Amino acid sequence: MSNPPSSTSPAAGEWSLYAKKIKKVSTLKELEKIEQELFGRKNGAMTIAMKKLKDLSPDLRKQKAQELNKIKQELIEQLEQLKNELETPSGAILAKSDSIDVTLDLPQKERGHLHLIPEFIRHVEEVFGRMGFDVARGPEIEDEKMNFDLLNFPKEHAARDAQDIFYINRKAPADNKFLLRAHTSPVQIRYMKTHKPPFRAIFPGKVYRKDADATHSPMFHQFEGLMIGKDITLANMKAVMIETMKELISQDAEFRFRTGYFPFVEPGLEVDVKWEGEKKTKEGTWLEIVGCGMVHPNVLKNCNIDPDKWQGFAFGFGADRMVMIKHQIPSIKELFPGDVRFLRQF
Ligand code: DAH
Repeated sequence: MSNPPSSTSPAAGEWSLYAKKIKKVSTLKELEKIEQELFGRKNGAMTIAMKKLKDLSPDLRKQKAQELNKIKQELIEQLEQLKNELETPSGAILAKSDSIDVTLDLPQKERGHLHLIPEFIRHVEEVFGRMGFDVARGPEIEDEKMNFDLLNFPKEHAARDAQDIFYINRKAPADNKFLLRAHTSPVQIRYMKTHKPPFRAIFPGKVYRKDADATHSPMFHQFEGLMIGKDITLANMKAVMIETMKELISQDAEFRFRTGYFPFVEPGLEVDVKWEGEKKTKEGTWLEIVGCGMVHPNVLKNCNIDPDKWQGFAFGFGADRMVMIKHQIPSIKELFPGDVRFLRQF
């Protein structure tokens, strides 16, 4: 039926041949071909039949036009319906050549992600946030008073040594030189001086020490934390430390608490973690990850908080170190390369 019927308007029977032909169609290509045969702008059978209507007498034209429009409508509907079926992969009469293999595995699109350090910092903020901890930040340039004195470091303490600290060459009193903060603990002083207890907060940030080897970089990231209330005890501290460290490292990790000395807490403790790691390559060993303890009464007093009324704990840990443990990265230098392709593996 590639030649259009030649009469002005093919008899209904002849149009029904098209209807039958459409029923046999099984591909979109065949469907398009019939569409052309019927409705092609120049040679479509229906197009020609419609054009020829104008040669008829007005009465006959009206009658034939009505008949023809009805047939045209039916054919269009039939074609539309078939088209829908053929375009739907689950269509009953879907031909093989038109099918889409929905099980086909396509290569995964490469997507970027945050660097491991900011990713970890956000995770820490989220984990402590769920426990009601506020987040605050302090400046990276502090002075000796903030970095040491108010934290109860004696004047002759070895941590003040110029071999370890980046002192800043800026005019200052001899006993209160400016420096790049060596820990985030000064932010607890700033926070306590400006907030009324009870409170709980964490303080993330960059810190600086003259240190460089596989596990030390002159700049690294720390979290300081603080929880002060009327009856906050070591038991609260232990619970918070274990819960959060499990979330941050692994639910399988084991923890132990040892006594340790830090001038700003009494008693002071260190938390070690033992974990075989995701790759389970080596036997787990105890690694020191957190320093913590009950805030020293002198520190509370230095911040105008009455130690007879208030008590609580403080803690500090290195974010980079925790990221290295978590992802089993052997050298801290891997975390700060110019070449970010290193991050692809995570
Ligand atoms: N500031 C200590 C450091 O940099 C970490 C620390 C230890 C913070 C014990 C604390 C603490 O709040 O209680 O090594």
